[in-house]
Formats: sequence, C-alpha cells, structure tokens
Amino acid sequence: MSFLKKLFGGGDQHSSCCGHDHSPESHPAPAVPAAPVTTSAPEPAPAAPKAPVVHRGLEGVYANESKLSDVQGDEGKLYYLGYNIDELVESHVSFEEIIYLLHKHKLPNRTELEGVEAKLRARRSLPQGIIDFLTAAPKTANPMDVLRTGVSMLGLYDDLGNDTDRSLNEDRSLAIIAKIPLIIGYFHRARQGLSLPPVRLDLSEAAHFLYLITGEEPSEKATETLDIAYIIHAEHGMNASTFSARVTVATLSDIYSAITSAIGTLKGPLHGGANEGVIHMLEEIGSPDRVDAWVEERLAKKEKIMGIGHRVYKVLDPRAPHLRRMAIKLTEELGEPKWIQMSERIAEIMRTRKKLEANVDFYSATVYHSLGIPTDLFTPIFAISRAAGWTAQVLEQLDDNRLYRPLTLYTGPHELKVTPIDQRS
Ligand SMILES: CC(C)(COP(=O)(O)OP(=O)(O)OC[C@H]1O[C@@H](n2cnc3c(N)ncnc32)[C@H](O)[C@@H]1OP(=O)(O)O)[C@@H](O)C(=O)NCCC(=O)NCCS
Repeated sequence: MSFLKKLFGGGDQHSSCCGHDHSPESHPAPAVPAAPVTTSAPEPAPAAPKAPVVHRGLEGVYANESKLSDVQGDEGKLYYLGYNIDELVESHVSFEEIIYLLHKHKLPNRTELEGVEAKLRARRSLPQGIIDFLTAAPKTANPMDVLRTGVSMLGLYDDLGNDTDRSLNEDRSLAIIAKIPLIIGYFHRARQGLSLPPVRLDLSEAAHFLYLITGEEPSEKATETLDIAYIIHAEHGMNASTFSARVTVATLSDIYSAITSAIGTLKGPLHGGANEGVIHMLEEIGSPDRVDAWVEERLAKKEKIMGIGHRVYKVLDPRAPHLRRMAIKLTEELGEPKWIQMSERIAEIMRTRKKLEANVDFYSATVYHSLGIPTDLFTPIFAISRAAGWTAQVLEQLDDNRLYRPLTLYTGPHELKVTPIDQRS
C-alpha cells in the first residue's frame, strides 16, 4: 500500500475528506469521492471524535478547485481549460498561445497573440545585478540552483510596487516567464566563459532559448520540437511544484517567492529532476543489449527507474506519446537509434514486470539530448515551460484565496519533564 493510515482512538486532531467516514474498516483505500465538495470554512467539531486518517503525500486529496487543467489519471488524458493536449499539439498552437490561454482562460485571437508576444519580448532583459550574479556564480553550480536564486533576485528589482491586483500580477507573470530563459541562457554561456549574446526580439520563446544557449539561430525543426515540449509541460494540476507555489502565495506572500518555491520543488529527482536521471541512466546502460540486466539489477535492489511511474496516471501519461514520436524521429535523423531502442526496452520491461508506464520525463530526455541540449539544462527547460502553469495557478489562487494549513498527526509523547542540563545523557 503506497500510503499510510494511522489510527488513534479518541484523538482530537482529525483529517477527513469531504465528511466521509475514512475508518480503515469501511475504506481500506484512500477514498476519492465521486463528487468532491469544497468547503471554505472548517466543519463544526464533531460530537464524537472520528478516527484520524493520514493521507501520506496527500494522495487522493483534493486541496482546491481549478479551471486550468484536468489531469485524468485513469483515462490518461490531460486538458488545459477544456482543450485536450492532443488537440493543442495537433493544431500547432504555440507556447505563447498556451501562456495566454492559461492566464486569460481563452485562446487568443491574432491581435491578442501579437500583444502577448510583444509583451514577452519587451521583457527580455535582466537587471545588471542579476547579470553580475550569473557571471560570478560558481561555474560548477547546478543551473536549477542558479535559476532559483535568479528568480528570487527578480523580486528585488520589481518596480511595480506593492500592489497585487490581477493585472499587475499578470504583468509580473509575463516578466518572470520571459526572464527565466535569460537567467538559464546567460548562466550557461557565462560558465563556459562565453559572451552573452544580445537578446533578439524577432524570435519566439522556444527559438530564443535555443539561440541564447548556442549563440546561433536554431532550425525551424528544432524550434518546433522545443515548442511542443514547452506546450506539453506547461501545466499539470496540483503537482508538487505547483502546490508549493500555491502554498507560498496563499500566505499573501509575493509571486516571486511563489515561483522560487516552485523551482526548488521541481528540482527534485522525483519531480522535474527525473528527466536528467533518465539520460544518466541511458548513458550508464550504454547499449540496448545491456538493458535487461541493468533494469533487473535495479529492480532487485528496489531502486526506482527514472521516467517511469506517476502518482496520478495509472495508464500511459498522455504527454509521453508526443515526446516518444519526436524522440524516434530525432534519433533516426541523427543516426543514433540506440537511445530510443534502450528507452523502448526499458518501458517494455517496466510495463510487463511492474505494470508501470513511462511518464513525461522518460522521452523528453532523449528529445532534449537529440537537440544537443546539455543534460543539466533539462530540468531548467521544464521550469521555463511550467512557469506558464505556475503563474496561472498563482493568479487563480489569489482570485479566491484561502490559506493552506493541513494537519499532522502527532505521534510523540506528551507531558515530559525537563531534566536539568547536567543530568541529561
Ligand atoms: C513518480 C513517483 C514518485 C510516483 O510515486 P508514488 O505514487 O509515490 O508511488 P510509489 O513510489 O509509492 O510506488 C508504488 C510502487 O511502484 C513502484 N514504483 C513506482 N515507480 C517506480 C519506478 N520508477 N521504478 C521502479 N518501481 C517503481 C514502487 O517501488 C512501489 O512498489 P511496491 O508497492 O512494490 O513498493 C514514482 O513513480 C517515481 O519515483 N518514479 C521515478 C521518478 C520519476 O520519473 N518522476 C517523474 C514523475 S512525472
């Protein structure tokens, strides 16, 4: 069982979901109610205390409502504001259109799209203090640590004052989305001792990032590939980093703090960091004939295989087929099919042995690797894209705010007596 239930008879702290009785006798698994009910105020204290239930990792718990994305774990479907991501990808909607969709809750018409593109491009600059930090940061620093610090520093240079109305926060959101690629790109150039290429205002978000890290204008194909990866990663319900962002801003802290929290959370290998783990795994395996033995050895040691499994998707992650398709094409074109051959075999073994499917990170690693992007920039790329979702979620949280404050079930002793310090062991 992947969650823990602890029962304490007669305790006065209890966690209940939607007023259901969650005693283990009646509900042995975390109950996801068919029709969740939102409460904006604590329920009145029950006459007789119910047995508390601990949903470790908040599995199966609805922490809020959202119109932004619908992650259908059993069906393997993902919708942004009602649009299936397959439809968005197949209709060649751009990342900039997705940003507008998430912030404004509608797809832009041509004038609105030009407006959001112009705003993003106009914000392609960094304060000198941040450039100084990026050029002085240790060359060996993890780019996610640099990004986290850089976004935190953006808050120091916000000249919009303390007003937090939605339109100002939308401006801040676009500025954050526009500046994250610059922070990553500038650091990447600086750590190689290279000059920072002057920003260009004629390139899309995806093309501009590739230009920043290489100093050269990318091909249309590379741009289109990264654009689709951006779209696929842009938003994903109450994932761990989005939850961090919402928790932070729900205290009425500021949007920079919220996005800084989110970046710190995304970094972990159980979340966004998994895409880097995938390429390290493929490099370690080395060739398709070594896959079976390598995976069996890891499974025997009860180790996790990166890019496999998902908390919500119980079937194939709907983002994975898009990335798989691109990974197959790119590796074929590069004449390096071994990457996709190894991936396919790993996925097959995990499906058969553990009934687990590939997630978004599994094939994105091969896509980025094939585009020539350094491995430690994979998770920062995830952050570039997810910044669209994080900022939209922050705006939505502030539209109807309520502090997040769950409980922990205390399992320690009470009423201990203080031993004088000299008598303590
Ligand atoms: C994503 C993830 C954290 C979801 O985890 P979760 O819902 O908490 O599931 P658990 O970690 O409790 O795993 C449940 C079972 O599946 C197994 N499992 C899950 N993911 C696994 C993986 N990637 N490799 C091997 N076994 C895995 C667990 O070992 C556990 O088996 P057990 O019941 O025999 O002990 C988990 O699948 C994982 O760590 N994947 C690898 C990291 C990754 O790709 N993260 C990116 C997610 S988009």
